[in-house]
Amino acid sequence: MNMNIMNVDYSTKIPNNVNLAEDRQVLKALEGWHPGYMDWWSDMGPEGFQESLVYLRTAYSVDPRGWAKFDYVRMPEYRWGILLAPQEENRVVPFGEHFGEPAWQEVPGEYRAMLRRLIVIQGDTEPASVEQQRHLGKTAPSLYDMRNLFQVNVEEGRHLWAMVYLLQKYFGRDGREEADDLLRRRSGDADAPRMLGAFNEATPDWLSFFMFTYFTDRDGKMQLHSLAQSGFDPLSRTCRFMLTEEAHHMFVGETGITRVVQRTCDAMREAGITDPTDIAKVRALGVIDLPTIQKKLNLHYTLSLDLFGSEVSTNAANAFNTGIKGRYHETQIDDDHQLKNSTYPVLKLINGEIKLVDEPALTALNMRLRDDYSQDCVKGMLRWNKVISTAGYQFQLKLPNVAFHRHIGEFKDVHATPDGILIDDATWAKRRDDWLPSTADGDFITSLMQPVTEAGKFASWISPPKVGIDNKPGDFEYVRIES
Ligand SMILES: [Fe+2]
Ligand SMILES: [Fe+2]
Repeated sequence: MNMNIMNVDYSTKIPNNVNLAEDRQVLKALEGWHPGYMDWWSDMGPEGFQESLVYLRTAYSVDPRGWAKFDYVRMPEYRWGILLAPQEENRVVPFGEHFGEPAWQEVPGEYRAMLRRLIVIQGDTEPASVEQQRHLGKTAPSLYDMRNLFQVNVEEGRHLWAMVYLLQKYFGRDGREEADDLLRRRSGDADAPRMLGAFNEATPDWLSFFMFTYFTDRDGKMQLHSLAQSGFDPLSRTCRFMLTEEAHHMFVGETGITRVVQRTCDAMREAGITDPTDIAKVRALGVIDLPTIQKKLNLHYTLSLDLFGSEVSTNAANAFNTGIKGRYHETQIDDDHQLKNSTYPVLKLINGEIKLVDEPALTALNMRLRDDYSQDCVKGMLRWNKVISTAGYQFQLKLPNVAFHRHIGEFKDVHATPDGILIDDATWAKRRDDWLPSTADGDFITSLMQPVTEAGKFASWISPPKVGIDNKPGDFEYVRIES
């Protein structure tokens, strides 16, 4: 069969552009895995709304100029498929010991275990976020937001398929076992939790959802970018296409937070409130006060920082040396791509002080990726702060210091303020609720989470979006709940 790699074959049960129809063994393995996936979706996917018609995009091509088509779909009928970006001709391993050698189309035997582990860790995050967000449909602030939630959910499901394809095609029996385990673990489960901390936390409300898609999906973006550099070409191609979808998830987060901030500022102005830190007065308006938004931001940013692992790591060095996981925008960096003699400044705790210390660049790769991530995060602050200053308020949302509220790496055993001042346990205990969401903050936000399901209407605490999805008008019915 002569297939155009750009276009997706929808004639098979599993849509794909990897010629599954002629890859009988892998097709069989995936078809064997499919029922378990559907069971997982019905147990752990969005609660309710499974019969509703949702205006979703489905990928029909991997051409970045036009790859998605929008239509009403019942979520269980979404066509989850296997989509790889087109193969780049003569691609080489762009970094590490194998720099300049032809990229691998098969798994190199000596790196098999490491590759499998990285694919499993990435794969595990995809269903985890669906599990974390499963109850949010019931409190959606609008049909527009509900649709975006479900879009993110079905695409995270597809990302799971993407990783499972790699496991089943390239890792034989243990790949199939890992694929089954990805459906067995559950976010927050005491016996079989998901593999990474942030993916076992609750996403209790919609502000958390927006923070999660802004900060935690952005960690995903950084990881996918590094894996898109991989010398193992099928992994690179898979991640490159996933990044196309990921962009929407972060858009949902960034614009979601913008709309919350906007609504708060508008309400404060209408009510003549001059002090944005007068929490009681602001909350009485049915909007979320800026200090509480800052606390949520502190929480989700720091949980996401933990996902980058220890600042100094031999695992990270090995993954780079072997050509498996590169740096953010590796091919655009102007150096030897081997890091033989270079150093990188790492924040460390030295004699009770936070100091920058030069470390061999190879072992500091997690720190470097985390720095790239933090820089990427700043863009949102600028946008949100613009909304606040335009409304005439002197208040700035800020990223907290990387020593604040950490559970992994250099600062896990100390307490620091959001400004990076080290403090003792007693001070931390006293001040914690000033910096991170308290139970009372959570209760207040929960009290606002009243569902709005009339087309074109929005909950009190969030502004409408500037433009609709797929350029639809403001009163478009993005979800037909009763269908
Ligand atoms: Fe994903
Ligand atoms: Fe995502």
